[in-house]
Amino acid sequence: MSKLFISCALPYANGACHLGHLRSTYIPADIYARYNRSKGVDTLLVCSSDEHGTPISVRAEKENKDPKEITDIYHELIGNDLKACNISLDSYRRTTDQMHYKMAQECFLDLYNRGYIYEKTINQLYCDECGRSLPDRYVEGLCPYCDSEARGDQCEVCGRHLDPTELKEPHCLICNGTPHIQESNHYYYKLNGFEEPLREWIESNEHLPGNVKNFALEWINDGLKDWVMTRDMNWGIPVPIEGVENKVLYVWAEAFIGYQSSAATWAKEHDLDWMDYWNDKAVHFIGKDIIYHHTIFWPSMLMSREMKLPYSVVGGGYLSLEGRKMSTSKGWVIWVKEFLDKFDSDMLRYYMVINAPLNRDTDFSWDDFQRRVNNELIDNLGNFIHRTFTFTNRFFDGKVPEKGSFSEYDEEFEAKIKALPDIVGDAIDEFEFRDGLLEIMNTTKYANKYFNDKTPWKAVKEDMESAKTTLYLANQLAHTLAVVLTPYIPESTQKIREILNMPTEIVDGFMEYENRKPVVMWDEAKEFLPAGYEVNKPTPLFEKITDEEIKEEKEKLYALEETQENEEEEDEMSDKISIDEFGKVQLVVGQVKEAERIEGSKNLLKLQVDLGEEIRQVVAGLAKKYAPDELIDRKVIVVANLEPAKLFGVESNGMLLATDSMELLTTDGNVGEYIK
Ligand code: 2FM
Ligand code: ZN
Repeated sequence: MSKLFISCALPYANGACHLGHLRSTYIPADIYARYNRSKGVDTLLVCSSDEHGTPISVRAEKENKDPKEITDIYHELIGNDLKACNISLDSYRRTTDQMHYKMAQECFLDLYNRGYIYEKTINQLYCDECGRSLPDRYVEGLCPYCDSEARGDQCEVCGRHLDPTELKEPHCLICNGTPHIQESNHYYYKLNGFEEPLREWIESNEHLPGNVKNFALEWINDGLKDWVMTRDMNWGIPVPIEGVENKVLYVWAEAFIGYQSSAATWAKEHDLDWMDYWNDKAVHFIGKDIIYHHTIFWPSMLMSREMKLPYSVVGGGYLSLEGRKMSTSKGWVIWVKEFLDKFDSDMLRYYMVINAPLNRDTDFSWDDFQRRVNNELIDNLGNFIHRTFTFTNRFFDGKVPEKGSFSEYDEEFEAKIKALPDIVGDAIDEFEFRDGLLEIMNTTKYANKYFNDKTPWKAVKEDMESAKTTLYLANQLAHTLAVVLTPYIPESTQKIREILNMPTEIVDGFMEYENRKPVVMWDEAKEFLPAGYEVNKPTPLFEKITDEEIKEEKEKLYALEETQENEEEEDEMSDKISIDEFGKVQLVVGQVKEAERIEGSKNLLKLQVDLGEEIRQVVAGLAKKYAPDELIDRKVIVVANLEPAKLFGVESNGMLLATDSMELLTTDGNVGEYIK
């Protein structure tokens, strides 16, 4: 039996999962795993939480905690998020496990002994106050390229990768002191020199998706620099060289090994060899932000160790939220837990796949989610399943009828059913998950039309042969769907299988070792049920998402953001600004011409404000204080040169000045007059 090693990127153990994680990495990996299991491939799906790295240790120091206290909590939270979405991991471990330490150190030593790692003295920042050096995220300052506030390792504004010593006006994140430059010894990996072998691997690997290939080749063309594998700090895996103290492996020098150590731990427990899986075929599912790491660092490490290279690396695109970049710090995010407390995991899985091809960036919008679930998953798929089984029970005594006469139309439908499993399977094999699902949904759409056209409710009275064929074929498609939809929506297909009296597997969180063998194999999707086969009465697969529910979710999201914005404003108020900075704010006298509530928001009003030269639309958080009518003709002070923003989906071009308790500031000035 062929074997397959599938990994999902290791989530950092300092935050819960949001929808972006599921979309880019975990749902696709799970679809691929479920499909392969049902094809009879001995599949191992692994993950771990990624517990090291400076962000976690900085946070621990700030909160006066041991980093492990933080990662303990998030390891569990992340595990629960993944379980709630039925990501069928065979193994979910931690990078603080003994096995991981051992394998990560072995990897480092192996590279060292093979001559791929060398020592070099470099300059780095040292904080006298704290008595220690400051690796990447321990320091912030100004970007040497664009002067924006930047972290030690990267400037988020211009996107450049930085070395902490390059920062202007650096300060220590722990004590705020000014660090100075000091020498330290570090271990470098000879990445330079891997350009050609990597290029060859990438160009010749036909399983690498196009987006991954293109990114990787671009970086290779830019030339590769050696890579520092160590950090001066205590949180991490100690550098396994005698006499080296207070140095740990850089988190990216050991995280990849997390795939293998998770597999090794699992294999040991079951008396198996993880290498059997690795050496057959390994596929990494990741988000596109770490394509570099997985197409450059990791394969070069594997080459150095003469290990087999991955079959493919699948990089999922970014997910924005309601048209804007997600931001956990700004509260512009949907957490998996909150989502799945309200909606079925299959709805999420469906929406995240159908929404866009995996390698493209896409957007989560509440309205679109509702629309697709209600119109497609329920009105299309759910309706087909429901009418098929209701009819079979009502007119054929709950048994698949004998097929009757076949028209061209029936033949066409039958051909579509028969072709479906291979089309979907091929798409999944090629990581084109959306194509597979689209094919399924188009087939059910066709099937509903077929059902309507064939009017079996009339035919049972007028043309029984035709009615029998219709229901015969409809049952066949339902049976095929019960198999081919399983990787995508495992809980709902379980319900379909129950109606169909098929064996049902337990779909509930991670994969238990005993349940690894699937109860239904993919190729059964091609087999037709015999006439007389008994089916049960249908139960609804999903409940429709109501407008009320969507409104509530939107309100929560936008309100959260409002609070966050207020908090940010408060924070900013403590900082003094210069007169020049103040001078940049354009304050103009305006007069409210129209005011209305924004549907779904308790706080916001949409206003049309006359600024003399123009009428401006401004969204203001005044609804709790003022009825729209009260504002008409009021003179107000408008911040006129604020960047446009969308609040509750409504564009706002400016802001009205008001007090904390929402008393509107007003003036006797003339409309259009600037305030100085
Ligand atoms: O970027 C991240 O979230 C990392 N924690 C991913 C690590 S993946 C792998 F290499 F282990
Ligand atoms: Zn300091």
